[in-house]
This record gives sequence, structure tokens and C-alpha cells, in this order.
Amino acid sequence: MVVPFAPGGPTDIVARIVAERMSQTLGQQVVIENVAGAAGTTGATRVARAAPDGYTILMGPMSTMSFSPALYPRLGFDPLTDFEPVGIVASAPIMLVASNRSPGTTLQDFSAHLKANAQSVNNGNAGIGSTSHLACVLYNNRVGVTPTLVPYRGTGPALQDLVAGQIGYLCDQVTSLMGQIQAGAVKPLAVLAPTRSAVLPNVPTSAEAGLPGVEMVVWNSVFAPKATPAEIVNALNAAIQKAIDDPGARQSFLQLGAEPPTAAQRSPAALRATHAADVAKWGQIIRDANIKVE
Ligand code: MLT
Repeated sequence: MVVPFAPGGPTDIVARIVAERMSQTLGQQVVIENVAGAAGTTGATRVARAAPDGYTILMGPMSTMSFSPALYPRLGFDPLTDFEPVGIVASAPIMLVASNRSPGTTLQDFSAHLKANAQSVNNGNAGIGSTSHLACVLYNNRVGVTPTLVPYRGTGPALQDLVAGQIGYLCDQVTSLMGQIQAGAVKPLAVLAPTRSAVLPNVPTSAEAGLPGVEMVVWNSVFAPKATPAEIVNALNAAIQKAIDDPGARQSFLQLGAEPPTAAQRSPAALRATHAADVAKWGQIIRDANIKVE
């Protein structure tokens, strides 16, 4: 299972929760390989070109699979036609977290600080075209700031630098943030989603904090190379479903603020439809915001 970002980020965390349990169902070890680079597109390219035999699969984040066609003119794959959708594993909202070195306690405080100091506050992300990049660009555009963007190979290493005070803020899926938030090592300022997160009920939504519409809920889903036979796709889908229904996995997801898919969202066909809708939706947002890979 290729994870196209560094260890410690949300894609990696979600992959490890299900891979361990899929291994039990499939009777063979599902090995995670972190192939980071170019906002996940390096790892996705590897899987798109792999043999369609079920032995190479991708933990595909919404970003790599839905934002990349609008951002990368020479993308080495078409996310919609070069893969067989297998199944959604989990979804999670984006949370904006700031360094403990920043003044204030609210998103409004932070936005004012950022406006006054945009030259010196760095914004970390997992590469141009990742969810952490695009979510914070939506926020930055709304506030009207252009801070220095610092790309990492995943938000795992970006979060370490946020804790150390090397960067000022990060927009990442709550999944990988809970540990540092609970330890008091970073400040959760807003959940960039329509509803509050059950694991952080005191953190306001972006709309409640005065920035309606700055929202992103991110899925992570398994994809296989195009032409992987249907019986293999279905067997992998069944192993995913069994994994996410495992009480231990369910508890891990819920404690991390991630949600497993509903019954109606679980099939390969449901992922195909969700994926196509998100390629259209986010492509439009990226073009409207005139976001480009430099
Ligand atoms: C992102 O799109 O920002 C990724 O989820 C980051 C990661 O998994 O490390």
C-alpha cells in the first residue's frame, strides 16, 4: 500500500489503522511504503503504472486524487481514468493550528497577527496541491495575506516544525493533530468545516470564527491500478470494510476525529462518484482562486 506522503501525517495514520486489519483478512501482510513528493503525485504515479494484480494499491488522499489535474499540467496520470476506485476509508475535517509562540487564543487574534506580520509568519504544508496547502490558501486569501509557504513531504514533519516554532501555522486534518493538541503543544484555532468536531467541541467552526465558506473535509480512499479485475477490487473493498468495522479501528478513528464512511458510501461505485464530484468541485475552486504550481 503506497502512502504518497511522509510518515506521521493523516494519510499515513489512516493507512496504518486499516492495513494492519486488512492483513488479517487477506492472510498476507499489507506493507506500507511511504513514497512522498510533489503533493502525493509521485506515489500515485507509481501505483498508476503498477501491474493491475491487487498487489500494489494506493492510499489516495482527496488532494492528490482530486486537486492535481487542475494544478499539474504534466501530471503523469489521470486520477479518474488510470485507477479503479476500491473504497473510502475515512474522512476528516481540516483544523487550523498555530504555534504556541503566536499571540492570542482565537482565530480572529491570529488573523490580525498574521496581517501585521505576514512577512515573518511561515505557513507549512505538505506540498503545492495537498489539502494542507489548499485549505490554508483559502484561509490566507480570505484574510488577504500572502505568507511564505513552506512545503514538506507530508504534514507529519510540518507538525514537528510547528511544535518547535519553526513555522507559524498549519491547516491539517484533525487526524494527525490530536496528540499535539491534547499535549498543549499547538493551538487549535478553528475547524475549517461546516460543523464542530466531536473530539474538540470547544473549537469553533470557520463560519463561527467569522470566515464562512473556508471549509474542507478530506477523504482518504484506496485505489488500485486501472484494469485491476473486479473480483480483486471487491475482495480489497471487503477487507477495507471489515477493517473499518473492527471496534479497535473504529475507536481509533473516532478518537482522532476521523469518520468511517456510511453504508451508502462504502462501495467502489460510491467512491467513483464521490471522486468525480470532487475533481469537478475542487478543480473549479483552484481555477477560481488562480492557484498555480510555481
Ligand atoms: C495533505 O494533503 O496535506 C496530506 O494529507 C498530508 C499528509 O498526509 O501528510
